[in-house]
Amino acid sequence: MPVMSFLSRGVLALALSAVAMSASAQTVPVVAEPFEPVSGQAGKDVVWVPTPQSTVDSMLELTKVTASDVLVDLGSGNGITVITAAKKGATAMGVEFNPDMVALARRLASEAGVSDKATFVQGDLFEADLSKATVITLFLLPDINEQLKPKLLDLKPGTRIASNSFDMGDWEPDARATSSPCTSWCTALAWIVPARVAGTWQLGSQTLTLTQQYQVVSGTLGTAAVTAGKMNGADITFTVGDRTYTGRVDGGVMTGQGWTAKKTS
Ligand SMILES: C[S@@+](CC[C@H](N)C(=O)[O-])C[C@H]1O[C@@H](n2cnc3c(N)ncnc32)[C@H](O)[C@@H]1O
Repeated sequence: MPVMSFLSRGVLALALSAVAMSASAQTVPVVAEPFEPVSGQAGKDVVWVPTPQSTVDSMLELTKVTASDVLVDLGSGNGITVITAAKKGATAMGVEFNPDMVALARRLASEAGVSDKATFVQGDLFEADLSKATVITLFLLPDINEQLKPKLLDLKPGTRIASNSFDMGDWEPDARATSSPCTSWCTALAWIVPARVAGTWQLGSQTLTLTQQYQVVSGTLGTAAVTAGKMNGADITFTVGDRTYTGRVDGGVMTGQGWTAKKTS
């Protein structure tokens, strides 16, 4: 082979490989690393730690979630609570500040086949619209629960609330359970928003005066003490002497079997 031909073939090969290299550099797709959440990663007001499935199950059992419920999980992380509720047929929504977690939860809901029932909103849990919720779930922190408490107590009587491990300060839970199998974050706590009954009522010819500390009710009927007073959402029960009154509160009226009380102040 003539020397020149050999050289030009070598140059051509080099040129081609340079073109090929530059072409491959241009066409190799840049694959973004899939987002992998890490337990303990920073969050706006609370870090992300997932609730174990057994505790999610306990929270939804304590709050008796069914297909007729509308559940809102405040700070929904990977969506485990929302997805589990949706699998029970509930309409479930997560509110989560971290957009990567929102995208992850949407993907997991899709993989579980419940995207129609399990939706996720990117936003601040303190701004969430809770007006349609019948069940609220939380895995936040005691001071955040305390900040949310007035808003939760303003919800419709009978709305159920469940928290993973953290309490509501002086608002004692109505129910609690320890989940199993579980190694950490195994306590589920639940509350029922009580109707507000504190004040003065006319019950027959007597004045019923009630004071209320969350679901616990005390007071007097005439001059007799009201004992064992308890709210379960809008349901009330209390005892005066040897009579137990069981009824339902609807705004300014309480009605039971054979008795009615009307609020006067
Ligand atoms: C402890 S994790 C609980 C996650 C999920 N609820 C569960 O039980 O597995 C708390 C979540 O709240 C989110 N978060 C923190 N502050 C928030 C805020 N102000 N608004 C919305 N989400 C928030 C975090 O990103 C995190 O995903």
